[in-house]
Amino acid sequence: MATILVVGGTGLIGAPVARQLQAAGHAVRVLTRNPEPAQARFGPGFDVRGGDVEDPRALAAALFGCEGVHLSLDGGRDPDLERRGMTAIARAARDLGLSQITYLSGATVDPRHAWYAGTQAKLAAEEALRASGVPFTIFRATFFMESLARYVRDGRASVVGAQPHRWHWVAASDFGRMVARAFETPAAAGQTLTVAGPEALTLREALTRYVALAHPGLAVNTLPLWLAGLFAALSPKGELAARLPFFRYTEQVGESGDPAPANALLGAPRLTLEAWTRQRLAEADA
Ligand SMILES: NC(=O)c1ccc[n+]([C@@H]2O[C@H](COP(=O)([O-])OP(=O)(O)OC[C@H]3O[C@@H](n4cnc5c(N)ncnc54)[C@H](OP(=O)(O)O)[C@@H]3O)[C@@H](O)[C@H]2O)c1
Repeated sequence: MATILVVGGTGLIGAPVARQLQAAGHAVRVLTRNPEPAQARFGPGFDVRGGDVEDPRALAAALFGCEGVHLSLDGGRDPDLERRGMTAIARAARDLGLSQITYLSGATVDPRHAWYAGTQAKLAAEEALRASGVPFTIFRATFFMESLARYVRDGRASVVGAQPHRWHWVAASDFGRMVARAFETPAAAGQTLTVAGPEALTLREALTRYVALAHPGLAVNTLPLWLAGLFAALSPKGELAARLPFFRYTEQVGESGDPAPANALLGAPRLTLEAWTRQRLAEADA
């Protein structure tokens, strides 16, 4: 089994992936800018390293001794961080002779959608990875079930915009198992794989199912984009202002790609939204 660094391993999707890599028998390192709380959260079984992905020394120290690295980075208001982070990781991984890099991209990533800064950064990160010379696997994953909790705030469950597209919601634990298998499957090298879960639901449909179990009695509201724009203008530093470009993007652009190759190679995601929500509630009660 390998030693694998997870960059973004404290994140919403990175943390469950780190746990699945460990469950598969790998030794897992996590890079974070805040190592103390991360070490307390993960416990002694994880090797938490302090550092910024843009600090070449910290990155090289975290990568030294690893066979693989998984990138699950989000720069928030600085989407280009993903491109810069990948460029730095690819260079360091090549210099240190790592055997594989895996990368969480997105299911809407396509040159036609490069007008959106997040997609432009992901396309550039994919390009940097392909050019690195290090064996790689790119995962173009659709919406994760974990992100539904982000739509419940201050006692409200809200969809911003019409959001007409159906997404094959996937559980991060299922995805984590696919990442772990990619490190054990030579045929995964050089592949750009679509990751999609078992059920296609709009954001409103998914949020309604999630809320019915996790927040019974809570109604799901729709905030029209024009009104969200007005609220965002009143609070330009707020979360809504930061997320509004994403809501505009996902209203226009849906998932694409064929998940069959990833499913055949690495095992298909199985958890339905209902099963995942029940599992999450049971874990919270334990
Ligand atoms: N949510 C979805 O449904 C979905 C779907 C497809 C793809 N994705 C992609 O999944 C990726 C991860 O998303 P997420 O929601 O898990 O993000 P998140 O919860 O916001 O986590 C972001 C991670 O990035 C790390 N990070 C940020 N800046 C850093 C820096 N300068 N140096 C080192 N680490 C840094 C953070 O670590 P620290 O703060 O601990 O340093 C944290 O672990 C994103 O690229 C997103 O586009 C998400």
